[in-house]
Amino acid sequence: MLPSVNNIARARAHSNIAFIKYWGNRDHNLRLPANSSLSMNLGELHTTTTVEWIQAFDADTLEINGSPAEQGALERVRAHLDVIRRRLAIQSFAQVTSTNNFPMGTGIASSASAFAALTMAAVAAPGAELSERELSALARMGSGSAARSIPAGFVEWHAGDSHETSYAETFAHPDHWDLVDVIAVVSRRHKHVGSSAGHREADSSILQAARAGSAEQRLSDVKAAIVSRDFEAFASIVEEDSNLMHAVMMTSNPPLFYWDPLSLRVMRAVRSWRTAGRLRVCYTLDAGPNVHCICEAADAAAVADNLRELSANIEIIRSGAGPGAYVLPTMAV
Ligand code: PMV
Repeated sequence: MLPSVNNIARARAHSNIAFIKYWGNRDHNLRLPANSSLSMNLGELHTTTTVEWIQAFDADTLEINGSPAEQGALERVRAHLDVIRRRLAIQSFAQVTSTNNFPMGTGIASSASAFAALTMAAVAAPGAELSERELSALARMGSGSAARSIPAGFVEWHAGDSHETSYAETFAHPDHWDLVDVIAVVSRRHKHVGSSAGHREADSSILQAARAGSAEQRLSDVKAAIVSRDFEAFASIVEEDSNLMHAVMMTSNPPLFYWDPLSLRVMRAVRSWRTAGRLRVCYTLDAGPNVHCICEAADAAAVADNLRELSANIEIIRSGAGPGAYVLPTMAV
């Protein structure tokens, strides 16, 4: 065990929304992605996790939002703690407690913020100091998109071809562009197929090679649009990239259909508002039915109002760009 103050640390990490998606791995064990991706951290949505390495424990324990975690989540966390134990030569087991500030079961992905916060706290607890790059690569082993929740703001995950070269870094700081994610929560149901299983199916679609092969071009185009804050260019690339990922999902074997009828209504409405010159907004969807409507801060209230008018079944969660993962004071734990 490394020299340590008290072997306990608390850390916070934010969720992120991808503008260029990660879907499919070239190496499943290392979670080396099929293509590089780019996302924005969500300042309002975060996971706070405390890790204590305890010599007397004979197994890792996990509590999420005040209740013992179900077996699947516990096993995934244990596997990730094994990776960290190996990296830091730790022999103890850990007591992990985690809370999300966004409502559970809203279908808002929490694995990115969860594994980024877990990595940060588990490394900080024994007093280890790793670079942001290494923390990002380590977080990737828990959940690919967690690699992007370690650095701040607009974040690019370099696909790489080894554990060391597959990591994320800040492309632009959170205050570079006041983009807002107005999330139209259209369903609270849990995903029928989680993303880890989905990544394994990606190559069964004949479209995956075309999507992944053209991702670098979209990545470079979206970076140019972000640098120049060109919303029109940004909007068409982001929607195309999301549609391409869902085309792969729908043509995989077995096919994955993540949209609900209401998701499609929102997507159509968003496009019509933009093309009619009414609202500068575009959509993107992850492995679920909720529609992330991206706009500039000045348009966010109007976007939320229009979404609510579209259907009484839409709930809104809103967030601007946010910071990277960080360690919190432990005096309160
Ligand atoms: O990190 P994972 O395994 O939950 O995969 C995330 C996949 C998407 O959310 C669908 C896309 C992305 O890049 O975040």
